[in-house]
Amino acid sequence: MTELIPNPCSVVAGSGEVRLTAHSQLYAGTATEGVGHWLRTVLWQATGLPLREGRELDDTEGDGIGLQLDSELGPEEYRLVSDSTGVLIEGGSATGVFWGAQTLRQLLGPDAYRRAPLSRDRAWIVPHVTIEDAPRFRWRGLMLDVARHFMPKEGVLRYLDLMAAHKLNVFHFHLTDDQGWRIEIRRHPRLTEVASWRARTKFGHRASRLWEEKPHGGYYTQDDIREIVAYAAERHITVVPEIDVPGHSQAAVAAYPELGNTDVTAASIEGGSALTVWDTWGISSNVLAPTDTTLRFYEGVFEEVLELFPSEFIHVGGDECPKEQWRESVAAKTRITELGLADEDELQSWFIGHFDKWLTARGRRLIGWDEILEGGLAPGAAVSSWRGYGGGVAAARAGHDVVMCPEQYVYLDHRQAPGEDEPVPIGFVRTLEDVYRFEPVPSQLGEAEAQHVLGTQANVWTEVMEDTARVDYQTFPRLAAFAEVAWSRLPAPQERDFADFERRMAAHYGRLDALGVAYRPPTGPRPWQRRPGVLGRPLEGPPPNR
Ligand code: ACM
Repeated sequence: MTELIPNPCSVVAGSGEVRLTAHSQLYAGTATEGVGHWLRTVLWQATGLPLREGRELDDTEGDGIGLQLDSELGPEEYRLVSDSTGVLIEGGSATGVFWGAQTLRQLLGPDAYRRAPLSRDRAWIVPHVTIEDAPRFRWRGLMLDVARHFMPKEGVLRYLDLMAAHKLNVFHFHLTDDQGWRIEIRRHPRLTEVASWRARTKFGHRASRLWEEKPHGGYYTQDDIREIVAYAAERHITVVPEIDVPGHSQAAVAAYPELGNTDVTAASIEGGSALTVWDTWGISSNVLAPTDTTLRFYEGVFEEVLELFPSEFIHVGGDECPKEQWRESVAAKTRITELGLADEDELQSWFIGHFDKWLTARGRRLIGWDEILEGGLAPGAAVSSWRGYGGGVAAARAGHDVVMCPEQYVYLDHRQAPGEDEPVPIGFVRTLEDVYRFEPVPSQLGEAEAQHVLGTQANVWTEVMEDTARVDYQTFPRLAAFAEVAWSRLPAPQERDFADFERRMAAHYGRLDALGVAYRPPTGPRPWQRRPGVLGRPLEGPPPNR
């Protein structure tokens, strides 16, 4: 069972095995108690073995598990040794030990992922092996859009578990958009009373005419957010919240019209003068007004966001902000003149720059989509490069940190195959192999510039995914390939051994099955054909590419 994903740096197989039994103990040394608690809990659920607490590492001799730090190792690095003395996982920090514990779970086989034991008298075996491992990138991210379709908290917690099982460590939480606002902000209650609901919603692709005449929405209370952040932290995942400004803000403007460009004629506001939370897909032209009212309002929002999210980076969006309203608005034009700016791009840059300074003054760092380069990049800003590599290359060359997430490779809402039966027939075709051959560091970056690539991230936009099963289908199995790209030191794209990855995936599908993930199978029937009810409704026919 050494078909591991992501593939470790080094695996040296031995010839025997460790058998975990009802007598096995689990010892967690200083600073690894949290990992010990997590490991005991998941293994107890799956195996029924109590894994009693060992008081000394020696207590685990033969058939136990030991966890401890080794200061010689890097913070996320671990070493797992399974031999005649038992299983020992050492890491440079608790985080490294946690990734080692994830590897141990893979070694135990797919049933180690279940929530209750299938049988009380089966053997739990860890083959003798020595694994040395450390990640290539420090930012191994996954973005989930909960604005287009709300994912209830339980689904988010499960998604975090799936991330951790793939050694991903940054959850980019896209909390606001034109179609919904998903985080309670106490000082602005209408963001949840009004902006978190839309009256009706589109089912499927934006070109389709399929509407559901029932409201869609939901939001996370501040306690839900605290729980999500704490749950992520227990899994060594940082949650980076995104509050998207100044575009993708129609929901907020619907709740607080004074945030919008109120001097622009009502006629130019889609849907008439009474703006509502948007009920279609695309990019709304109803963007924030670049006024002091807006700045003060969002400073209030970010104050509450900073209290909830301890992450170094705070994502402010900055993508796809149409400038028509600013071109028409007297208030926006006056602002451009007052500030001595050249145009609306510079106005956006000023807007983002305001929050760069604001966040920096509070010890945080701003990150935004690559549009924040237009009109000049704020001094401390980092960039999520989504429109290909270009934004990331320009930002890294200018000395800014970058997360590479080009839509051509790692937008997991895009279809996985060209067939007409793909349930989400949008975008580029990006197969499992395409994702596996994605290289986050483009060759045009020199060595010093490449240091600015913090890592990489896959993005899951949910216009066409209204429930957890559809999110699963788009995310998996491609997230497994992505995890290997983000963690392992793979050779150049064309030299990657995809056949070996597929061989290891054969075992990994068993883990995903045990976890109940509705992944896209490599062959054969789709999840809704295999398991009626997994995807609860008929699929719409294939509309054109977006
Ligand atoms: C994006 O896909 N609009 C970042």
